[in-house]
Amino acid sequence: MTDDDPDTATDAVANADDSAEGGTAVRRDRFSGGPARAFLSSLAADEAIFAADLAVDRAHVVMLAEQGIVDDAVAGEVLAALDDVEAAGHGALPDGEDVHEAIETAVIDRVGPDGGRMHTARSRNDEVATCIRYRLREDLLAVAEATLTLREALLDVASEHAETVMPGYTHLQPAQPTTVGHYLLSYAGGVGRDTERLLGAYDRTNRSPLGGAAFAGTPFDVDRERTADLLGFDGLVHNSMDAASARDFLAEAATACATLSTTLSGLAEDLILFSNKGFLELSDDYSSTSSIMPQKKNPDTLELTRGVAGDAIGEATGTLSLLKGLPRAYNRDLQRAHASVFEIADDVREATEVAAGAVATADWAVEDLAAAAGDGFSTATGVADLLATGGMPFRTAHEIVAAAAEGIDDADDPATAAAKVDEAAREITGEPLSAYVSREEVEAALDPTESVASRDSTGGPAPDAVAEALAASRAELDDDAEVVATRRDALADATDRLETEVETYV
Ligand code: ARG
Repeated sequence: MTDDDPDTATDAVANADDSAEGGTAVRRDRFSGGPARAFLSSLAADEAIFAADLAVDRAHVVMLAEQGIVDDAVAGEVLAALDDVEAAGHGALPDGEDVHEAIETAVIDRVGPDGGRMHTARSRNDEVATCIRYRLREDLLAVAEATLTLREALLDVASEHAETVMPGYTHLQPAQPTTVGHYLLSYAGGVGRDTERLLGAYDRTNRSPLGGAAFAGTPFDVDRERTADLLGFDGLVHNSMDAASARDFLAEAATACATLSTTLSGLAEDLILFSNKGFLELSDDYSSTSSIMPQKKNPDTLELTRGVAGDAIGEATGTLSLLKGLPRAYNRDLQRAHASVFEIADDVREATEVAAGAVATADWAVEDLAAAAGDGFSTATGVADLLATGGMPFRTAHEIVAAAAEGIDDADDPATAAAKVDEAAREITGEPLSAYVSREEVEAALDPTESVASRDSTGGPAPDAVAEALAASRAELDDDAEVVATRRDALADATDRLETEVETYV
């Protein structure tokens, strides 16, 4: 075979990686087109890391030139070829086992055999690991940004409805009155932890494996910190075997997405139930209708949001299952680990944005909520608390209110209900309620708004407590937004740095 043989380029690529696997002929026979070729190839799915691979190639070539491993002229030719490959797009790549091989083939097609110098001092193993991290960090930031949007919507509506009284539930039964503000803040807290988990996953994802080579390092004098810096990574995955093998960051990202999605599914379920009860009306933008039943307005967007959680949990489980028991170092199983994580991150981001929109635009039925807030004797706990405050043992108070509850119904006015509690007190303790608290106090405790106002412990639903929580949540949101913006800027700066370096060669 001569240098101008059309197969030479492909063979050079084949040789460049996994050189321990054998010479050109062996490699060609093993991979050139058997029935398993399509099964082996990840080229189509690798579209998701096409841009990442170009960036990784550029940073690697710049570093090779700076270290004197390839000369500047060859670096310039390779970098120019990469621009051309980028302009042609993923669809124009030659056939290959994966995007790394295909891009290299495309470069060699343009530059000739010197193009194969691009793959000096690396392997597809560290290359693909770097590409996945490069791509995934963008996805994680996008999901984190969506959580910020949702938190903002939750806080805006919470502050608008800080004093809107509503029924609170446990076991889906009326439990205690609360407020829409307090309720929404509960989700702002959960989604806030989701942001933290995503940012934690981001920080562990954003480390460079490049330069680890196949797993065992390289004799070339590579500068791993330099490529890490050019690609915007905050440091290295230090051990070269860890660098090539580790995918725990994928499991962590999938789990962070699944946890967020689980939070969203609860919010979606609540809002579906509330709209069913007439407590809430979704805006038309977040509803759908029926093709046959003209009167229907269905909460489809929230049902889909709830549904995404199933896929996200499946993805987290699937990722861990794929990784379980893999021996060191690289195994081809890993090729199947990342594409679906990118996809689920995208789905969860979209579900988060939809949830934010649905929350921001829904109409809360303030009067219906207030009317229902006391249903099911939901103020019972507050009455028992009041009796205990007046000196009665809480267990006795609980017994009295439980006995009264049997005879109290939703139509009773406060005076009637208070009389029934008084009767129960006399039966159980032989004393009237007035031995402990005044009748006015009992009637106030039976009022849902007063009941809410009395529960002013830290994090509780009383207006002052909610105002404090709102302020704290807003401050946390601002801090997290700042962290996300800093990460974004650092990535944009790195992109500029790499572009500037590349321009000095091309
Ligand atoms: N497409 C492969 C992947 O995604 C690249 C690594 C191939 N390395 C190897 N030793 N066969 O994992």
